Amino acid sequence: VGRIAYVNGRYLPQAQATVSIEDRGYQFGDGVYEVCEVRGGALIDEERHLARLERSLRELKMLAPLAPRALSRVLREVLARNKVRDGYVYAQVTRGVAPRDHAFPARAVRPSLVVTAKAIDPAKGAQQAAKGIKVISLPDIRWKRPDIKTINLLPNVLARQAAKEQGAYEAWLIDADGMVVEGAASNAWIVTPEKIIVTHQVDQSILQGVTRTTLLDLIAAKGYRLEERRFSLDEAKHAEEAFITGATTLVMPVVAIDDTTIGDGKPGALATSLRAQFHNFARATP
Ligand code: PDD
Repeated sequence: VGRIAYVNGRYLPQAQATVSIEDRGYQFGDGVYEVCEVRGGALIDEERHLARLERSLRELKMLAPLAPRALSRVLREVLARNKVRDGYVYAQVTRGVAPRDHAFPARAVRPSLVVTAKAIDPAKGAQQAAKGIKVISLPDIRWKRPDIKTINLLPNVLARQAAKEQGAYEAWLIDADGMVVEGAASNAWIVTPEKIIVTHQVDQSILQGVTRTTLLDLIAAKGYRLEERRFSLDEAKHAEEAFITGATTLVMPVVAIDDTTIGDGKPGALATSLRAQFHNFARATP
């Protein structure tokens, strides 16, 4: 069976699932999105993803296409129709269809909603985590509101492509002070030689990752030492461990940053342990 997508009220084979060429998402990148992990048929931390979606919409003065309950049902229906038990569900909302004009449509238009799902074999992530990943560093050239999860991802696309071309999985974005902001599609973490876990504080320069938030719950529950602060690329290269977090990568150990090996070049013990414990602290809703 082919993949089924939800588009503005209809469930369609993906080849027939289309939006207007005047959709503001297509024209301007005027939209927001969420990626929610699916595990054993359940959504992971759905509530936090839906809350962040509402926040993104609010920050951009966009209307919600559906009430949270109805959206929740659509997510499940897309998963069911695609028989996805492990993988992710993707939801995208744009400001809708209107003749091209940068300013918002004069008359309120209905926001466009697209939902897709994809199966991923959990063994693939586990294999990657057992080896660890490489990251490269690049200047952060994004706009000043990466806290909004917009579909306008050109700097992120370019950064990921550069990483791929250099045999790395992720790019860490560096600010003008040489500080690590976050990954192109993940949050960035280190473990210092004093065994303190460090990640960038929440502000407008990073996306407040749902995986990050849940991992903070785990860290607090276990009493691990934590500092939410900026850290430099140089500090990261001298760290004992490094890792990234994201809805599809979960906790993924980093074993090299640019040409610098982290620790002994193997996934760190703490990162590996955090990954193993993660789902005990995340909320799974069938
Ligand atoms: N990316 N920072 C950025 C810039 C991201 O794009 C993401 C997620 C994260 C981690 O957020 P979360 O833990 O809620 O997934 C941080 C998604 C997965 C993506 O773009 O595919």
